[in-house]
Amino acid sequence: MARLLGRRALVTGAGRGIGFAIAEAMIREGAEVAINDIDVVRAEAAVARLGGKALCAPGDVSTGAGVASIFETIATAWGGVDIVVNNAGADKALPILEMDEAEWDRLMAINLKSVFLVTKSALPFMIEKHYGRVLSLASIVARQGALNGGIHYATSKAGILGFTRTLARQMAKHGITANAIAPGVVDTDLVRDNMPAEMRVRIEGAIPLGALAEPGNIAEAALFLVSDEASYITGATLDVNGGFWMG
Ligand SMILES: NC(=O)c1ccc[n+]([C@@H]2O[C@H](COP(=O)([O-])OP(=O)(O)OC[C@H]3O[C@@H](n4cnc5c(N)ncnc54)[C@H](O)[C@@H]3O)[C@@H](O)[C@H]2O)c1
Repeated sequence: MARLLGRRALVTGAGRGIGFAIAEAMIREGAEVAINDIDVVRAEAAVARLGGKALCAPGDVSTGAGVASIFETIATAWGGVDIVVNNAGADKALPILEMDEAEWDRLMAINLKSVFLVTKSALPFMIEKHYGRVLSLASIVARQGALNGGIHYATSKAGILGFTRTLARQMAKHGITANAIAPGVVDTDLVRDNMPAEMRVRIEGAIPLGALAEPGNIAEAALFLVSDEASYITGATLDVNGGFWMG
């Protein structure tokens, strides 16, 4: 099967974790994928693992200058992009009373402003082709509230849902869909760095399917939402959480 043959995709924060798994799955399905990460060494290593269909597009998605340089790379190599996966993100487990303005702004820029900047840069290419897929990584905490992470993290992920629904309305006439995935708890470095071991055990016990998600579980859902099979789905949020939260 090659569901994405001929498609060109940008995955932000694809140097490791969920973004890497999404890029790997897209390449398996025939796409060419630009691997973005703020960590250049990590991006280069990912490209080396993924082979000839991967393009290295490092840069900081939280700034206009960073995003401009990513799109310069893409425009030079490909002249456009069909699919954007807004995956780059970060968390810091801080209670509100210990959070200052700089930390709030830093994280909102990485997790939410980036989605605006990257998506806006991709839209002209998509509008020209009358085809596009914008998929953004939200989180279970957008609706449930943060379990262990920061209040800014949960707020940024809730913001992604509003962004996605509005984008879906504004871009439908251009053949562009916009959707979000809300993962539960995924076994990546982000979680390993932020979650105490006893909490992990407690959460695993509360997930009906009995385990944290693997990055590949999220990647398979992402593939569906960017494929032609999902052409009538827009403005949606797909929960991929093992039944941990059922709305
Ligand atoms: N792991 C989970 O349990 C979980 C749950 C729900 C949602 N998510 C979301 O999924 C996405 C991926 O999470 P993950 O667990 O794979 O995280 P991760 O920390 O393993 O990987 C994130 C990658 O993004 C990169 N990155 C960070 N800031 C960047 C920036 N400014 N510009 C470019 N790249 C940047 C990092 O270098 C890293 O390689 C995030 O948006 C996260 O919020 C994760």
